[in-house]
Formats: sequence, structure tokens, C-alpha cells
Amino acid sequence: MATYQNRTIGVLTSGGDAPGMNAVVRAVVRSALHKGFRVVGIRRGYNGLLTGDMFEMNIRSVSEIIHRGGTILYTDRCLEFQTAEGFARALKTCRDKGIGNIVTIGGDGTFRGARELCENGISCIGIPGTIDNDIACSEYTIGFDTALNTATEMIDKLRDTTMSHNRCSVVEVMGHKSGYLAVNTGIACGALTIIVPEIPYDFERDIIERMNNTQSTGKRHFIIVMAEGCGSAYELAKRIEERTNITTRATILGHVQRGGSPTNRDRVMASQMGFHAVKLLEAGASNRVVAYKNGLICDFDISEALEMKKTVDADLLRMSETISI
Ligand code: F6P
Repeated sequence: MATYQNRTIGVLTSGGDAPGMNAVVRAVVRSALHKGFRVVGIRRGYNGLLTGDMFEMNIRSVSEIIHRGGTILYTDRCLEFQTAEGFARALKTCRDKGIGNIVTIGGDGTFRGARELCENGISCIGIPGTIDNDIACSEYTIGFDTALNTATEMIDKLRDTTMSHNRCSVVEVMGHKSGYLAVNTGIACGALTIIVPEIPYDFERDIIERMNNTQSTGKRHFIIVMAEGCGSAYELAKRIEERTNITTRATILGHVQRGGSPTNRDRVMASQMGFHAVKLLEAGASNRVVAYKNGLICDFDISEALEMKKTVDADLLRMSETISI
């Protein structure tokens, strides 16, 4: 006897926004409609489930968004959803609105929420969307490439003025507790030193000695890239200036890294991941996170995915130390 499958998919974006989230929403909506699902857009992450703030989506609801940054569904980090009362309300909304499937786009916190919904009968698929690239089960998260390009462009501009004044610039990039943005931006910008939370650094050896060595070969300006999880760029800049007498400025790139039109890579990856999520739901799967691994789109059990660990590649830092001098 065939089992009944709920044919409504709710889609939401949660946590910090990331360029390419719209492209995922577009892919989910169009793939789902193609397979005969009804699609509901849930606003402001899990908040929309608590308040019932949602709307019916059709193929034209996602027109003209593939190239747009931000998220047309809005996003939030919803603390109330984590309470028993809030969660019960969210579950009731799903039942009242006939939503039996949800695609959630966000980070680990978003997937934890999805796992709880799965335990209560809602089929959920998570898609990694964060500029931090810190989802362990996936080599790539939507938004990372765009953020990298934004940070690189900003630091290229900073380099002009740093060079003209023979200064040192300490640039703080985002990344929460991870250094992926810092490493890849630092390499692309030729940073003298890249500081990440995962690998301890030594102020004298990794900054001062490297500055001195570089100076002795004729270079007079320095770019240091640090991940936000490593402390204050202002304090580090002050310390460098006191120690070297080289005028040092701190620049915090901040939320500009989260905006902008998604790059080609983010749009393509978003399209593939969104399509894959719907394919999973169509096949009756639940409690999965879509991932990119070894060149392929694949998926993992949410609990297994949350247990996984990944860390920045120390060899990349060593390579950078050799060539960025
Ligand atoms: O997770 C994305 C991210 O931009 C992190 O890099 C950063 O630590 C955090 O979000 C900032 O969050 P908020 O937008 O709440 O300031």
C-alpha cells in the first residue's frame, strides 16, 4: 500500500544572510513546483513558523532574484524557536498550514532546528548557506565565494593607500570562529601574515620578524589579515605600531562582506543544492544536509553532519608564508 506523502514544502532562510540564498530559494521553488509540490515561503527564518508569516509561491515569485544579494524571505536568529513553547507553536503552524516538508537554508543552528522538526514528523532538508564556510560536512557553503571576492576587492583598495603611505594595515575579516575567509582572502591579497582562530600565532615570529625581513628586501608596506575570531584588529594594530614605529591602521571589513550580487560559483552551487534538496524530499528522505564533497553534490544525516569537524589547511598558511614576503 502506498504511503501518503505530504506535498507542501515550506522554504526558509535562517541565521546570517549570505549572497546566493535567493538563488537557492529560486531553485527550491522551481524544482518543487516542477515535481508538483505546493510551495510556501516562510519569512524571517523560524520566526515565520511561530507567527504564521508566510505566503504561497509560484514560479514567478522567484523571478529576478538569482542575481540579488540578501534574501527575499528575510532572515533572523530565532531564540524563541529554541524554547519548548516556541517550538510547539512552530509545529502547530506547520500542521495548521499543511506544511509537511521544510527546506532550511543556513548554518549549524538552522540545522539543529530542522533536526528537531524532523523528530516531530516534519521532513526537513538543510542547505549550507553562510559566508563563513564553516559547515563541517561540506567543502563549500553558499555565499563564501562572493564574500571572498568582496573582501579581496576591499583589500586591493586598501593596499593602494597602505602602499602610498608606507604603512601597515591590519584587516579584520568575518568568519565567526573559523578562518576560511581569512586564509583565502589573505592568499589572494598577498597578506604578509594571516591570523586564524584554528592555528596559534606568535606576535614576534609571525608579524615582527616577517615585517623586518620584508623591509630588508626593500618592501615598505604590509597587509596583515586576521579573522574576527582572533581578537581586536585595533589592539593588534596598536601593538604593531608601538613595536615597529610603522604607522599602522586597523580596518574592519564588517557586514559589507555579506552583501552584493552572488558570484557565478555561488549561483551555480545554489541552484544545484536547491535542486538536490527537492530531489531528496521527492524520494521521501528527511533529516539530511545537502553538501559539496570531492566535486559532487551529496547529502548527510543532520546528526552526523553536526558531529563532523573541519579545520583550515595549515599547508595553505605555510604556502602563503613562502610566497607573500
Ligand atoms: O555567520 C555569518 C556571520 O557574518 C559571521 O561571519 C559573523 O560572526 C556573524 O555572522 C555576524 O552576525 P551578526 O549579523 O548578527 O552581526
